[in-house]
Amino acid sequence: MRVRKRITWLFPRTAPLSRRQPVRGLFYGVQTLRQLLPPAVFSAAPVDGQKWTVPAVSIEDAPRFAWRGMMLDPCRHFIPKEFIKKFIDTIAVQKMNHLHLHLTDDQGWRIEIKKYPKLTEVGAWRAETVVGHAGKPNAKYDGIRHGGFYTQDDLRELVAYAADRHVTVIPEIEMPGHAQAAIAAYPELGNVKEPLPVFTTFGVNKNIFNVEESTILFLQDVLGEVVEIFPSTYIHIGGDEAVKDQWKESEAVQKRMKELGIADEAKMQSYFIARMNDFLKGKGRKLIGWDEILEGGLGKDATVMAWRSVDKGIEAAELGNDVVMAPTAFTYLDYYQGKPKDEPLGIGGNLPLSKVYGFDPLPKKLDPEALSHIMGTQGQLWSEYIPGPDHLEYMAFPRACALAEVAWTPQAQRDFKDFSERLKTHVERLDKMGVKYRPLEK
Ligand code: ACM
Repeated sequence: MRVRKRITWLFPRTAPLSRRQPVRGLFYGVQTLRQLLPPAVFSAAPVDGQKWTVPAVSIEDAPRFAWRGMMLDPCRHFIPKEFIKKFIDTIAVQKMNHLHLHLTDDQGWRIEIKKYPKLTEVGAWRAETVVGHAGKPNAKYDGIRHGGFYTQDDLRELVAYAADRHVTVIPEIEMPGHAQAAIAAYPELGNVKEPLPVFTTFGVNKNIFNVEESTILFLQDVLGEVVEIFPSTYIHIGGDEAVKDQWKESEAVQKRMKELGIADEAKMQSYFIARMNDFLKGKGRKLIGWDEILEGGLGKDATVMAWRSVDKGIEAAELGNDVVMAPTAFTYLDYYQGKPKDEPLGIGGNLPLSKVYGFDPLPKKLDPEALSHIMGTQGQLWSEYIPGPDHLEYMAFPRACALAEVAWTPQAQRDFKDFSERLKTHVERLDKMGVKYRPLEK
């Protein structure tokens, strides 16, 4: 460990990527070496009586994909900073290298923005939360105020902690949909006259940002503070599930569209995203968003996170956009991993470990040019039905271990039976790290 620290000092975090490469390789080599040692090496406490032996092997290794990510959602249920550090430790052991933080949504705004304090004074707190599944009729509410936010210093601390483990933190600021917490704080950002509360239930709703120039400038101000906190090349602007009913009904939005010569609401969203893309480019960054940003047209320099299907990723790659494959069918780790009757309440779906492992992010039907746009893959942990850290680890692991191997190992070398055997030892390592993973099926 002392060696790594000394070399990190020689190649500081601010060094150009090409100069950091050897340090990163060394870091991953150390992760492999730790896995060759007995699992007790993952224990934080001193270990007595252990013989520390390593098999004599020679290993040549390199990652298959550059983007090996996981996404956390602290909006639906707030996630303490210290737990995020533990999560970074756990994914870094698996050689994952991106942590996407979904920082704003209808149910809570989680990032301090100095210019707009009400985003967290008001937007970080909801009065109560729906009990049980939000899709059920006659919803009941718990009457308990829920919330929290990260200060800019908290986030800088997380960025540095992650960087020391070769994990890049990607912030997401959602727009134009999933905006109700921001509109609750600053009603002038919305489309309706009545004041809105921070949303207390789950599911897609109609409250989206309006398209006034002042709203675009507000969001650019927010992104201006975001880029000062997060040094990542990519900044995520959301873009998913922006229901356009309010834009269709609003005289102000229709008037603005006419002024801009914009024919329909999909093209309006495209304009909105293009303004953010221009802003981020001006800051030397790249825009990434969920696959709906393709609708209405998208610049080639934007990156698409394909969530609705692999086909959305194919569509984007064929258009020449870079893609992160994050499809629900293979990477939504908030889905059930066994029979719902045997599992804690979940959002729905069915995604067993074997299916995650079986994912190949490179679709067979793509030509080499389009394939070169697939940057990798990422697992999603939406937290509507993940109320706390233990539950989060139960949903994440070992499925994230399978996804880590999808992202790292050449397809021809992957084999679920072999993985399942190796996983038996790997969960011993997770035990030593205090990770509350879902026990393996017998
Ligand atoms: C998403 O799951 N709405 C990106």
